[in-house]
Amino acid sequence: MHAPHSPPGDPVVGNALRFARAPLDYLDAIGDAYADGIVHLSGAVGPGIYVVLDPGLVQRVLVDDHGRYRKPGFRPELVDPLVGEGLLTSGGDHWRRQRTTLQPAFFTSRLRGFGDTIVDFTRATTAGWTDGDEFDLYRELGVLTVRIISRLLLGVDLSRADAAAVGDAMLDVGEGLAVSPGGVVRPPWLQTPPPREYQQAIRELEDVTARVVAMHEPGGDDVLSLLERAIADDPDAFPADELRDQVMTMLLAGHETTALTLTYALSLLSWNPAARATLHDEVDAVVDGAPRWEDLAALDYTEQVIHETLRVLPPVWALFREPLADVRLGDYRLPAGAPLMLPQWAIHRSPRHWDAPDEFDPGRWAETKPAEVPAYFPFGAGPRACIGRQLAIVESKLILATLFADWDVEVTVDDLPRRAAITMQPTEAVPAVVRRH
Ligand code: HEM
Repeated sequence: MHAPHSPPGDPVVGNALRFARAPLDYLDAIGDAYADGIVHLSGAVGPGIYVVLDPGLVQRVLVDDHGRYRKPGFRPELVDPLVGEGLLTSGGDHWRRQRTTLQPAFFTSRLRGFGDTIVDFTRATTAGWTDGDEFDLYRELGVLTVRIISRLLLGVDLSRADAAAVGDAMLDVGEGLAVSPGGVVRPPWLQTPPPREYQQAIRELEDVTARVVAMHEPGGDDVLSLLERAIADDPDAFPADELRDQVMTMLLAGHETTALTLTYALSLLSWNPAARATLHDEVDAVVDGAPRWEDLAALDYTEQVIHETLRVLPPVWALFREPLADVRLGDYRLPAGAPLMLPQWAIHRSPRHWDAPDEFDPGRWAETKPAEVPAYFPFGAGPRACIGRQLAIVESKLILATLFADWDVEVTVDDLPRRAAITMQPTEAVPAVVRRH
């Protein structure tokens, strides 16, 4: 039985502060040095954070022994007012009931009908572009993915202004939730209240949410219709805020990760012209005018680009769990309630698990199925894996193919400063120029 590795740190506040100052860089460093085990980051107070770097142990936590762990209440003073008890954050029986109720909205049979909507919204966006336009790509894609997710999952057409408000609010939320020295080494009773921008962002999201609920026509097979029926059938099984929490969850979980995937894919393609040329060749060969659902099967390289983007720049950079009781994890003993971090960021990029991990090489997925690689889990794993995973892949492929059919999108900076919040977000605008293809 081993004690978790403990990299050197400050004698008073431990090594958690080093992590908190530059989380992604710190994870890169310990990911290379300790890829075979668990690293303990100790803070001045509390149990610190246990970083699980062995992919086999990550699978144990998420899949094999998932019943022994739960999602921790991460910064509850910030997260509860945001998504409450939505599907991402709920637990126990409430989560199980929600997941069973909402699952049909994500069935493949339903996704099949989404293809044209995704392509039409994308073309409506590019209809506003002229050759040589420059803009913030992340913001533009954020508006697009909010509008798509509202139509597909919530059954309403949001205005561009409302969609932009959701995207902007998400940036303020990200700033409020970013890992920071204060957030990591201070005890909960010393946490500062959320900044005013964070509270304002939640109010704006609540306004949009109220409009979504008011605009929604019942009786469909979208998330809101399914929930409304389940609540009518068994009102006591769902709390009063169920609709509000679930709309907030779908708007945020459903749009931002996909906007990030596309922003990072277009950035990586701009920095790797050979991959970009291969993608253009595939889209030119497969797509006639605008892509259709039937084209998806032939867009192999497009899909490899998405998988490789999610490896190199995973929008969800780490998952968090805590053991319900003292557990043995591999050769390690962990106390009940120990905060565990399972970092995609470090594991997806460790030379112990990948050949040439720093290279953006979509072709590495030509013969390899993502589900068969334990060191790859951009959508999580086990019962709490992403409910929108298949939708996200289909949506990203169709949007990329629609853009590549008519446009060259070039990100004009050669790196993107990023912060580690719940997702990994760019901290500045992502400048891009578009030219007709
Ligand atoms: C590329 C895009 C996406 C990525 C990388 C992603 C990633 C993830 C990850 C890693 C988890 C697991 C969290 C954990 O175990 O702690 C998750 C859960 C979840 N995702 Fe996604 N996601 C994406 C797209 C979507 C979309 C389009 C939706 C649509 C609504 C969505 C909704 C959710 C929800 C509701 C959960 C919680 C599921 C549960 O606990 O039952 N995600 N996602």
